[in-house]
Amino acid sequence: MKVLLTGGAGFMGSNMIRFLLNKYDHAQVVNVDKLTYAGNLDNLKDIVGHPRYTFVKGDIADEATVENVFRQHRPEVVLNYAAETHVDRSILDPKAFIMTDVVGTFTLLEAARQHGVKRFVQISTDEVFGSTADGQFTEATAFDPSSPYSASKAGADHLVRAYWRTYRTPTVVTHSCNFFGPYEYPEKLIPLFITNLLEGKKVPVYGDGRQVREWIYVPDHCRAVDAVMTAGQPGEVYNIGTGERLANIDVTRKILTILELSENMIDYVPDRPGHDLRYAIDSTKLRNELGWAPTRSFDQGLASTVRWYRENEWWWRKIKKGEYLEYYRQQYGRKT
Ligand code: NAD
Ligand code: DAU
Repeated sequence: MKVLLTGGAGFMGSNMIRFLLNKYDHAQVVNVDKLTYAGNLDNLKDIVGHPRYTFVKGDIADEATVENVFRQHRPEVVLNYAAETHVDRSILDPKAFIMTDVVGTFTLLEAARQHGVKRFVQISTDEVFGSTADGQFTEATAFDPSSPYSASKAGADHLVRAYWRTYRTPTVVTHSCNFFGPYEYPEKLIPLFITNLLEGKKVPVYGDGRQVREWIYVPDHCRAVDAVMTAGQPGEVYNIGTGERLANIDVTRKILTILELSENMIDYVPDRPGHDLRYAIDSTKLRNELGWAPTRSFDQGLASTVRWYRENEWWWRKIKKGEYLEYYRQQYGRKT
């Protein structure tokens, strides 16, 4: 099985490469990654030199790069993880989101069509559905994105669906809830809060902290994508969720409890513009049709995640220098 996995130097892409190489003796993985601020070869330190792994530094929106990769490596499966992913950054500077998430996905789809891949899996998000006060998003819920990030993912997902309807390119889309676990860039809620607290800094809770997110721990997400890749039906859409829905303030309190710190470490800051109040994903289809179910609770995953960040300070301390500081200067400049 020849897999082209894009964005494999990022958080979930790097975890998925490790998963595929461990699970399948016959899997060959080509990772195409632009190495943006979020791409980090440290995430793949243990994989470098693996006989069934190849890294190509490249932009998925660049036609020549993508064509070369398809010609040279002849992938049967494409797993498109590459994206600009951080909502706050999309609010500060949306252009890269359009270029990578929309144009990049289009460029990959065209190559997949021309080269006749057997499966194209688009790793997408529950954010395309917007916010729901008390319901759940099903696969049929209409897109209603709020941020430039989620709008760019929605645009890409429309293209992916259209390639099946128009050209019969065998595409599948996943809509996942929030991931968390090892190697997550410390700008997202959970790794930002853990690392800030390990550094003795406060944690910035947006607004009143009552916004609700649904959470999935890394290995359960890898297993879900594996199920979709191997058994999902072309042209279908699968929601990936756990049902573990928590308000941000409750996630924050759980992290404080694990680290034995008090609520004095919370800094309530002005809200994110256009902040979605609540995500809740109905993953019945994935469970019933593909037999997937999560294996770890949020609390188990969070305890392991805190342990990982404690034991891997070398990884996140390197990141929290340089470009990261400039981003936070802009971010807090906007809020205050
Ligand atoms: P991430 O931000 O950690 O990593 C993204 C990776 O993509 C980086 O390695 C980056 O260098 C690479 N990349 C960016 N632009 C590129 C380009 N033009 N060409 C090639 N590579 C490029 O991402 P993540 O949080 O692991 O998310 C992975 C995927 O899952 C994304 O598509 C995201 O939309 C989706 N998703 C994420 C979450 C989440 O909670 N993080 C939830 C649902 C869906
Ligand atoms: O739902 C899936 C999405 O989850 C993915 O598609 C995105 O790529 C991923 O970034 C994530 O988006 P969120 O906006 O939900 O994640 P983030 O970690 O940025 O924020 C989670 C919640 O915590 C959100 O309600 C905003 C809030 N928050 C976040 C940060 C970074 C804070 O209160 N303070 C913060 O400093």
